[in-house]
Amino acid sequence: MKAADLKGIKTGTLRVTIVTTAKYFIPRLLGPFCRLYPGVDVELEVVNRDQAIERLAANRDDLYIMGVPPDTLPTERHPFLENPLVVIAPHDHPLAGCRRIELRRLAEEAFIAREPGSGTRIAAEKFLASHRIKPRNRMQLGNNEAVKWTVAAGLGVAVISRHALMLEPMHDRLAVLDVQGFPIRRSWYVVYPAGKRLSVVAQTFFDYLKREAFTIQEELAAPPLRRAQKKPR
Ligand code: PGA
Repeated sequence: MKAADLKGIKTGTLRVTIVTTAKYFIPRLLGPFCRLYPGVDVELEVVNRDQAIERLAANRDDLYIMGVPPDTLPTERHPFLENPLVVIAPHDHPLAGCRRIELRRLAEEAFIAREPGSGTRIAAEKFLASHRIKPRNRMQLGNNEAVKWTVAAGLGVAVISRHALMLEPMHDRLAVLDVQGFPIRRSWYVVYPAGKRLSVVAQTFFDYLKREAFTIQEELAAPPLRRAQKKPR
């Protein structure tokens, strides 16, 4: 691969580790990338944030995609795409369709939380704590799909990435609530160890992400799920 790098040939293996929520868009960027560079083989790991940080510390991959880069390791980090977090509820929740719901109203709801260490959970807890709101967690679940099904079943509300609502087969079971202060604005980062010299293949994918992320960004601009009926407050 080093010889190929020296010649600038885009061939070899690209090793990328992504955190679970990035699975909703990275494969859709990898598809066209692989068609453009058929000589590149991809090894994609989808893990939770703690495992991604372990792999980063051990320098096991070329690039890492995550929402909360670690403060404990020297890294290069580049934001390349928005990662807005929204509040979801079952479609028949009394607040579905209400406008500008006060944030403190969320303290009355049961929350379905992600597992400790999830970037979504860290960001949601930080945001709610900064507004002195202590969520009442009814349940914690290790992935977004389980969170969505549990919310759809009427067991509570949840904070979730807009990306997790793309290609959503449950559009008629969930509603996005219009809560003041939401969406929480965050970014996705490409991360790699500070000082690491990227291979030509890794650098090519990094440049591709920066150039093509707008295609996913455009999807985020569309209304999430179906539009709920607006009710007067
Ligand atoms: P996660 O997503 O909640 O699946 O860890 C990463 C993030 O949003 O930071």
